[in-house]
Amino acid sequence: MKRFHVTTFGCQMNEHDSERMKGMLESLGYSEAAAREEADLILFNTCSIREKADERFVSHLYEARALKRRDPERVIGVGGCWAQSVKDQVFRDYPFVDVAFGPGQVHKLAEFLTADSLTAQGFFEFEGFTGHLPHKRARELHAWVQISAGCNMKCSYCIVPSTRGREVSRPFEELVDEVRLLAAEGVREVTLLGQNVNSYGMRLRPEPRKFSDLLHAVDAIDGIERIRYTSPHPAHMTEDVIRAHAELQSVCQHIHLPLQAGSSRVLKRMRRTYGRERFLDRVALIREHVPDCALTTDIIVGFPGETEADFLETLEVAEEVGFDGAFTFIYSPRRDTEAAEFRDEFVPHEVQVERMGRLVEVVQRRARERAQRFVGRTLDVLVEGPSRYDPSRLRGRTTHNKVVNFDGLAVPGEIVPVEILSATSQSMTGTESLLSRVA
Ligand code: SAH
Ligand code: SF4
Ligand code: F3S
Repeated sequence: MKRFHVTTFGCQMNEHDSERMKGMLESLGYSEAAAREEADLILFNTCSIREKADERFVSHLYEARALKRRDPERVIGVGGCWAQSVKDQVFRDYPFVDVAFGPGQVHKLAEFLTADSLTAQGFFEFEGFTGHLPHKRARELHAWVQISAGCNMKCSYCIVPSTRGREVSRPFEELVDEVRLLAAEGVREVTLLGQNVNSYGMRLRPEPRKFSDLLHAVDAIDGIERIRYTSPHPAHMTEDVIRAHAELQSVCQHIHLPLQAGSSRVLKRMRRTYGRERFLDRVALIREHVPDCALTTDIIVGFPGETEADFLETLEVAEEVGFDGAFTFIYSPRRDTEAAEFRDEFVPHEVQVERMGRLVEVVQRRARERAQRFVGRTLDVLVEGPSRYDPSRLRGRTTHNKVVNFDGLAVPGEIVPVEILSATSQSMTGTESLLSRVA
């Protein structure tokens, strides 16, 4: 039996796509190898969001070349966003690669592997949803659900519209059926995935659908206890979506709402289609309807032309909102994006690093402060398994997506009450409230 190994880089959409690649390969009779050295088919699912992502991947690719030199029968495949962005050039720069495919043609990998001759081939059309392929889930209780592919926004820094194509939503009923099947398989938590999830359905025909309708339909499915989604766009964060967090039992008390910058001038040059006021107004609406909701975000520092005054506005918003967590990135110019042309206005690297340091300080302090609201409370925790630091303890997550390491008797999959004893910006500790078991 032939064996495959997949290395995944990038975002949750890539994690989802890798699970589908694995499912498809198993349906072709392949099995998963524990290590890259043992695999006949070495696959990479790549990301190109920042330059560092490219560099990391290329060093892995050279390791695969070394393995192929030892055993030339090995097949090397490269999928995902980096592959899509370089297309056939991959075969010129890395001639040991046998097959390359973009996020819209993962299914072609099967065609390639079952063909008679394995000559180098590339597949880069935006053709199908990876979500249609069989899956092999990494986590028993959790599933990714691809609700749309691609992105129609034109954020000036971002490579994704060119690597994932135009936005297309999957049919409503198809998604509901998929989640029903997942629930029957024992899945208790789903994460709905798209580059811009809350614009889901606007162009579906014959009948447009709303993202909030999808939340209602998934909430109604027996067995699904928790619904998460990523990423929504602040411009499309309408009241019906926010209310769903308050009204629907399984929609989690957590929203990841990417800010990117706190200055309206920078946001405009980023082509984010909202300003600082709109973002703050969305936060106010969330806090009004869902007071306990955790809010996390993405922020880019050192965007071309960002002045000290602009950056101070980002710090101000971070301070004022008090995010429960934030992913912070130094701006990285990407090929074929508008902002990469703003070369004259690039912010020096030392300045970017210095601003990043100040931002991280504010973000972490506010997250630590915010997390103190949980201390002393008893929160429902969905148990995932043993704690990574101490296997005699358990690890799980609250609805706010906060990791809790705790003492208790629960088993994975259970949702148990945990008394929170301490909290940092990253995680919390606690002890399972055993009263419910005695009763
Ligand atoms: N579709 C999602 C995010 C996709 S990329 C959304 O719109 O929210 C994830 C994050 O990477 C972005 O939110 C942004 O903060 C960051 N990012 C994207 N392109 C970048 C670039 N060129 N340099 C630095 N960070 C970038
Ligand atoms: Fe990129 Fe903007 Fe689309 Fe997000 S919304 S994927 S940041 S273009
Ligand atoms: Fe990376 Fe593509 Fe995701 S560029 S962040 S893998 S959409």
